[in-house]
Amino acid sequence: MAGLQKIAVLGAGNIGGTLAQRLAEADLARELVLLDIVDGLPQGKALDIAESAPILGFSTKVTGSLNLEALAGTDLVIETAGLARKPGMSRSDLLTKNAEILRGHAAAVRKHAPHAVCIVVTNPVDVMSYWFRKVSGLPGARVFGESGSLDTARFRTFVAEALGVAPRDVVGFVLGTHGDTMVPIPSLTSVNGVPLTGLLPEPKLQAILERTRNGGGEIVNLLKAGSAYYAPTASQAELARAVALDEHRLLPVTASLDGPYGLHDLYLGVPAQIGAAGVERVFEVELTAAERSAFQASAAAVRSDLEILAQLPSGAS
Ligand code: 2OP
Repeated sequence: MAGLQKIAVLGAGNIGGTLAQRLAEADLARELVLLDIVDGLPQGKALDIAESAPILGFSTKVTGSLNLEALAGTDLVIETAGLARKPGMSRSDLLTKNAEILRGHAAAVRKHAPHAVCIVVTNPVDVMSYWFRKVSGLPGARVFGESGSLDTARFRTFVAEALGVAPRDVVGFVLGTHGDTMVPIPSLTSVNGVPLTGLLPEPKLQAILERTRNGGGEIVNLLKAGSAYYAPTASQAELARAVALDEHRLLPVTASLDGPYGLHDLYLGVPAQIGAAGVERVFEVELTAAERSAFQASAAAVRSDLEILAQLPSGAS
C-alpha cells in the first residue's frame, strides 16, 4: 500500500542507497527520488533498485537525480547526506562540514517541499536536526532526527544476546544524544514487561551499557572505511513507515524540545509519538537520579555543539 505521494532521500551513499531500497520494498510511496551531487550515483542506484521491482513486486517508482528541484511534491524527506565518521573521529568533528552540506538542502526543502516531514540522519544528528529545522524554517514537529531508535536497537540486541531471548522481545529506551553522552535507560527496559533490573548481574549490565554507547564506533572500527548502515537504515525505515502510514508509534527520536524535561530551544533524544504530522507528542518519563543527571549531561553536550554552530550563518530568513 502506498501511503505517501513522494519520498526524497538526500544522499546516495551506503545509508541513502540502502534506505531507498528498504523504502521502495516497503511500498510506502508512489514515488521515491534519490538525490546526490555525484553524477551517476543516485541515477545508478535508483535504476538498480527500480529493476528489482518486477521480482519483489513493489510499485514505488524509483528515480535518481542531481537536481534539488526534484524535491517538489515531496511529503517526506530523509536527510542522509554528509561525511561519515572515520576511525578516531567523533560525531562532533563532523559538525561544521555537515552543517554546510545541510544548509543547501534545508533551504531547498523550504522552497520546493515546504509541507514535508523531514527525518534527519546526518551526524551529529541532534545538532544537525536543530540546524535543519532552523534553516528550513519548518515547524519543530515536522523535523526530527533518528537517534535513540538506532541506539535502542543496539541496546536491545546486546541485552537479548546476554539473556538468550528473542531480540524483538526486549523493549526499552536509549535517550539523550546520539553520541558519547547517550543515556540507555535500564529502569524502563524489560523483556516483554519483565523488568531488566534483576535479570542481569550488574557488571554485565554495565558492560552492555558501555557497548551500547560505543555501538556506532564499534562498527566504524570493524569496517575501517565508513560507518554502519544496515541497522541505521532499518531504524530510519521504521520511522518513515510511522509517518507514511500515520502509525502513531512511540519511538525514541531526537525531537524539538520547548518545555518537556525543562529544556528549551534544543533537540535531544526523547520518547515521542510519530505519525503523519511528524512528532505528535513528546512523552516525559520518570528517570532515576543517575539517569536524570546523565540526561542533563547529554543536553549540555548538545548545547556546547550548538554554540559552534551559532557562529555559522544559517541563511534562514
Ligand atoms: C551510527 O551510530 C552512523 O551514527 C551512526 O552507526
